[in-house]
Amino acid sequence: MLKAIILIGGPQKRPLSLDIPKPLFPVAGLPLIQHHIEACAGLENLREILLIGFYPIAQIEQFVTDMQNKYSITIKYLQEFVALGTAGGLYHFRDQIRYGNPDAFFVMNGDVCADFPLIELYNFHKKTAKSLVTIMITEATKQQSLHYGCIVTNKKTYEVTHYVEKPSSYVSTLINCGIYVFSVDIFQVIGEAFNAKQQDYYSILPVCFGYIRLEQEVLAPLAGSGKMFALQVNNWWSQLKTAGSAIYANRHYLELYRLKHPERLYTSSGEGGCTVIPDVYIDRTASVHPTAVLGPNVSIGPGVTVGPGVRIKESIILADACIEERSLVLHSIIGRGSRVGRWARVEGTPTDPDPNKPFAKIENQPLFNNDGKLNPSITILGMNNRLCPITTPDNTGLQHKTYKV
Ligand code: GTP
Repeated sequence: MLKAIILIGGPQKRPLSLDIPKPLFPVAGLPLIQHHIEACAGLENLREILLIGFYPIAQIEQFVTDMQNKYSITIKYLQEFVALGTAGGLYHFRDQIRYGNPDAFFVMNGDVCADFPLIELYNFHKKTAKSLVTIMITEATKQQSLHYGCIVTNKKTYEVTHYVEKPSSYVSTLINCGIYVFSVDIFQVIGEAFNAKQQDYYSILPVCFGYIRLEQEVLAPLAGSGKMFALQVNNWWSQLKTAGSAIYANRHYLELYRLKHPERLYTSSGEGGCTVIPDVYIDRTASVHPTAVLGPNVSIGPGVTVGPGVRIKESIILADACIEERSLVLHSIIGRGSRVGRWARVEGTPTDPDPNKPFAKIENQPLFNNDGKLNPSITILGMNNRLCPITTPDNTGLQHKTYKV
């Protein structure tokens, strides 16, 4: 029997939208962590999924009920009393995780997106008998690797011999993907980190009681012990930190639908449908005018209205937004309930990885660069905004480049 834990964190760190907790932000039409749940539900022996985070229960419980009904699998949300770090929550809820004596359990960072190779990961974990942890790793560029957990492995045995989280200088281009298989004996190791910290709690303040960082306090000390191994994968993998990375992930999840869920992709073969340039997801409650042209890489949420002659490309349109006639939306996220007035042009700048650099990942750049200038990025029209022309449109509408929000 297997279990899976999805770490979803909490409200204070980098929200993607004002009204939706980041783990529930829709990417390719599904809440971000539904992609994790779907991958887990595909495993025959996986019996329970535990979401661990510190969002108020009210923000997560409806989602949990919906997911249980959809995938017929036990899903529970375990709320930390305070942020406990990436291993503190695992340790706090260890009895719940160990309950039923699982053979092993997956841990998945809720903010990663991937074509999750869970079966391969588990089969690899089983082969390395003494393993307490198997880490999924992938290759990054030398420069980008500094922003991740860097791993050195023994090329023959795949043992992790060295682990440094966000090193200040180059260690390795193999990086931690934040997807693991753990044996239940890992709790002894996390317990040791917990006990060591308890002493700190009484000596150096402030230390949050029970706060443990998986990467620095558990994985790094395990390197070279013969108990931690890594499986390198070349499947698509990305982190979702910024709005720009949501557009990038949207594109890749849509592409994965071609193989795994073609029924989710909209095709304009039927009469009266709009024109689509693949890949496009349209919620069945959205209303799209037949003269609109959507795609590539567009997701249209529930209750959205898209007017005549609208053009949308590389964008996510959230629930109940309205894109009025002849407007253009490129590389943007349109927030829930927002209205883009007719003939408006909403255009962002793509932040894709450099195609000339093999293994490049998307850059999660801060809003401003070192000179205080805004880094070009995708455009976000927040929740319930209205973007409308200042002047009355003439017959062509072409002169109307000035808008107010
Ligand atoms: P940053 O680059 O600083 O964001 O580091 P990172 O990519 O390693 O991410 P981080 O360690 O912050 O989070 C990894 C995953 O763990 C994310 O899915 C977070 O939502 C989740 N997470 C982070 N802190 C906590 C926590 O205190 N409790 C829980 N349950 N989850 C957490």
